[in-house]
Amino acid sequence: MIKKCLFPAAGYGTRFLPATKATPKEMLPVLTKPLIQYGVEEALEAGITTMAIVTGRGKRAIEDHFDISYELEHQIKGTAKEPLLAEIRSLISQCTFSYTRQVEMKGLGHAILTGETLIGNEPFAVVLADDLCTSHSDGILSQMIEVYDKYQCSVVAIEEVPKEETDKYGVIAGNPVDGTDHTYRVTDMVEKPDPKEAPTNMAIIGRYILTPDIFNIIRNTKPGKGGEIQITDALLEQAKAGRV
Ligand code: G1P
Repeated sequence: MIKKCLFPAAGYGTRFLPATKATPKEMLPVLTKPLIQYGVEEALEAGITTMAIVTGRGKRAIEDHFDISYELEHQIKGTAKEPLLAEIRSLISQCTFSYTRQVEMKGLGHAILTGETLIGNEPFAVVLADDLCTSHSDGILSQMIEVYDKYQCSVVAIEEVPKEETDKYGVIAGNPVDGTDHTYRVTDMVEKPDPKEAPTNMAIIGRYILTPDIFNIIRNTKPGKGGEIQITDALLEQAKAGRV
């Protein structure tokens, strides 16, 4: 069973500057909700109630968002505005939120390893909140947990992207496994390949189910693309053993 979801949220969000100069990227709103709230809702929909968030300097707003704001709540109590807080209150009452800080930004793999203290020795989900996923049926994490239940190995979500954009994503190659073209056993993974070298146009989006052996693999993973410790490189080790 997947009980915990890790949210790497320590990065500087440089691609969104200047919006992220003083506001965490994860707190940027889409309509009236910050990105990370959508991620927490997706995890909850998948039956996950333990949220583990890897933060860093300047990210206090995330902790405050998933907490009660006494002054504000007192102000709007009994007014027409009170229902606006209903959704976030309901999330806070159904989930627990734990935090740990990534002190140095050494890449997504390193951020996930920083979360080990909150996850322990069990399979877990990872949500990168800046990839907002919507679905007409079950949420993406719910669908991925179904795949995990069947194959008991790490799972990554993929989407097809224009070939010239492969250098923005981790890219996989694989063989279809269940008679459809929806699930692949991954045979290769490359972080942000040049379009000329990309094995396919199947790009990783920010949703993962990881088995806990990933932590030891990350510990032994050398810095890759951009000099950062990449989760894609760690996952390649599992993929070589047929376990993604
Ligand atoms: C990260 C991963 C990449 C993945 C992407 C999805 O990259 O390293 O493999 O495709 O998230 O959003 P980032 O966007 O953090 O550079």
